[in-house]
Amino acid sequence: MGIQYFEKERIFKLDTKKTSYLIGIVDEEKFVCHIYYGKKLSGHRAEYLMRTAESPFLPSQNARDRQVVLDCLPMEYTSNGVGDYKESTISVRTKAGNVAVQPTFESYRIFQGKPKLEGLPATFGKEGECTTLEILCRDAVLNLEVLLRYSVFEDVDAIIRSVEITNKGEELLLTRALSACLDMDNRDFEMITLHGGWARERHMQRKPVGYGRQSVLSRRGETSHQDQPFMALVTPGTNQEMGEVYGFHLVYSGNFLVQTEVNQFDICRTVIGISPEDFGWKLETGEKFVTPEAVLVYSGEGLGQMTRTFHNLYRRHLIRGEYRNKKRPILINNWEATYFNFNTEKLLDIAREASALGIEMLVMDDGWFGNRCDDNRALGDWQVNEEKIQGGLANLVEKVNQMGMKFGIWFEPEMISPDSNLYRQHPDWAIAVPGRTPALGRNQYVLDLTRKEVRDYVYQCVADVLHSANIEYVKWDMNRQLTDIGSAQLPPERMGEFYHRYVLAVYEMQERLIQEFPHLLLENCSGGGARFDPGMLYYSPQIWCSDDIDPVERLVIHEGTAMIYPLSAMGAHVADCPNHTVGRTTPFETRGYVALAGTFGYELDVTKISEEERAQIPGQVAMYHKYNDLVREGDYYRIASYRENHYFDCWEVVSEDKKEALVTFIQVLSRPNVHSRCLKLQGLDASKKYRVEETGEVFDGDALMYGGILIPAIYADFQGRLIHLIQVEE
Ligand code: DGJ
Repeated sequence: MGIQYFEKERIFKLDTKKTSYLIGIVDEEKFVCHIYYGKKLSGHRAEYLMRTAESPFLPSQNARDRQVVLDCLPMEYTSNGVGDYKESTISVRTKAGNVAVQPTFESYRIFQGKPKLEGLPATFGKEGECTTLEILCRDAVLNLEVLLRYSVFEDVDAIIRSVEITNKGEELLLTRALSACLDMDNRDFEMITLHGGWARERHMQRKPVGYGRQSVLSRRGETSHQDQPFMALVTPGTNQEMGEVYGFHLVYSGNFLVQTEVNQFDICRTVIGISPEDFGWKLETGEKFVTPEAVLVYSGEGLGQMTRTFHNLYRRHLIRGEYRNKKRPILINNWEATYFNFNTEKLLDIAREASALGIEMLVMDDGWFGNRCDDNRALGDWQVNEEKIQGGLANLVEKVNQMGMKFGIWFEPEMISPDSNLYRQHPDWAIAVPGRTPALGRNQYVLDLTRKEVRDYVYQCVADVLHSANIEYVKWDMNRQLTDIGSAQLPPERMGEFYHRYVLAVYEMQERLIQEFPHLLLENCSGGGARFDPGMLYYSPQIWCSDDIDPVERLVIHEGTAMIYPLSAMGAHVADCPNHTVGRTTPFETRGYVALAGTFGYELDVTKISEEERAQIPGQVAMYHKYNDLVREGDYYRIASYRENHYFDCWEVVSEDKKEALVTFIQVLSRPNVHSRCLKLQGLDASKKYRVEETGEVFDGDALMYGGILIPAIYADFQGRLIHLIQVEE
């Protein structure tokens, strides 16, 4: 049983295979309090951890002074403005201008499975896979219902939280509505977050948590290159295999806040949800607001266990569609090959050469529509440019299909160029503040997708193109972030809804797309990896990781990304050298090994690369087919980090039955006067023997894990090695 209620003690116990989460209802005031989250407990009697009887302000004897109690009582979801001075998860503005809210316990229900969240991406699970607890709270003064929802995925050790706020009272403005709160005693936590910029997304940062507030957030209207809606709190000394880890991740693609705060009582409060900055949602009587889901993962076995929990949750209970458990076709994308300078003939040349080498799909990137000869124009004019695509799209696709290849196409549906027919016809369709000239980003504006006629129009353009030819893949790009928030249609009192409505609109359009084209492989992208988030994973099984395809840069990007996302989701290509972003030259082979840890594809002019490199492609194609099932479905272990040691990187994927493992070692810089490197593997069966396919050597599983494997010294930079271990039958 994943969730139990102990009536006498008024305690809820949520159990997964390895964790327990306890919630208590404090008798007197009916506060819904947090008792415990961590390693699995045998019983439920841990209510003493709430310290309800303690007076924190010595020598004060008034232990139940509400102002005191609320500032130190561990809460499941907070009040606002009535005595708890830590960050609030909820806040309102009533017609009278008041901000106080205090939801208290009313009732609960426990049931199998979990409901869908209307209009929002959400994890899913049937009866037997997950159990849900709903705790209904009410603010009696406002007559505002706050439904706290917890779904427990027992098999994957994850807890999902979301909140539904229903106004049964008078109209009000909801000014914050976060998804979850976790109050714990601070244990000298350190926080791990993912930061970056364009071309260097999701670099890991680890630092001590101090007093006060520390947060990561986006106010860019999308997830962003800069920050990820993720935070892990870890105890000091935590590494891949040891230490306690609390991971928080938001299933959302817009403005977010993840914040941790340590207060005067050494309580560490972590909150996660939609960013309250510039947010305000009008709730008329009877209206409801639903927050996105927050994923909570506890690991008592280091960061590696947290990683594998997120991977399993997302692979089994978030990613949907035909391709979720399927090998993806190896694609070749023409962006870095041609940029805007291509036509039918050029694309067919690439396809002809690629198909002969075993590549399975041609993706036509930006530049095929309207007057799009550069990035100054034509977004919104989704009609095929027949000067470039001579003979039309259907003809091109047919010819590519005849070569035995699939065909994919690029769109940027959310954008409008000032120099476009669409803008000339509908200047008010761009997001803008009346009286202000909106900022340009990559020479473009953003469409006001909160307007139904705008999203219907642009959706129909995309659908018409997809109906016009046998197109089996779409890359959905988004190349600028939001500014100058203003809408010609939203009433002034609803302008605070804009950012969230925009995200809901993108979700609506992508849902429509995958319903109307169920066999389509969708890849999300945003100027590289600015929309790599769990929300997008609900619609597309893969997301473009970064515009930086250099394998050395990718080591750091992949390390951060793979800490929470399965390798099957990471868009990764082999590109040409010198690399277009950093100018580095690396061996073709190494580029292949790094891309193998993702979806694997090519992004180069295959007609122009050297004969020597071209000759390696069939071998890489075979490598992909040989290992992709393992890479996509196996358990991921981080063995060494180039980010930390500045010389080499190593990761390992082990099949669920532990019969097979693939170790990838990349030496970034060679070092003089060293002998072989000894790397301790993980996740093998300690009692079994393993044969190294490349050398035929046989080792004991425990020796490989506790002693290590020796990687002979390599006399060059940027070198890679694959080591395939196969369990020996006895
Ligand atoms: C940004 C993407 O990340 C690139 O791969 C490419 O599609 C360009 N946009 C095209 O404009």
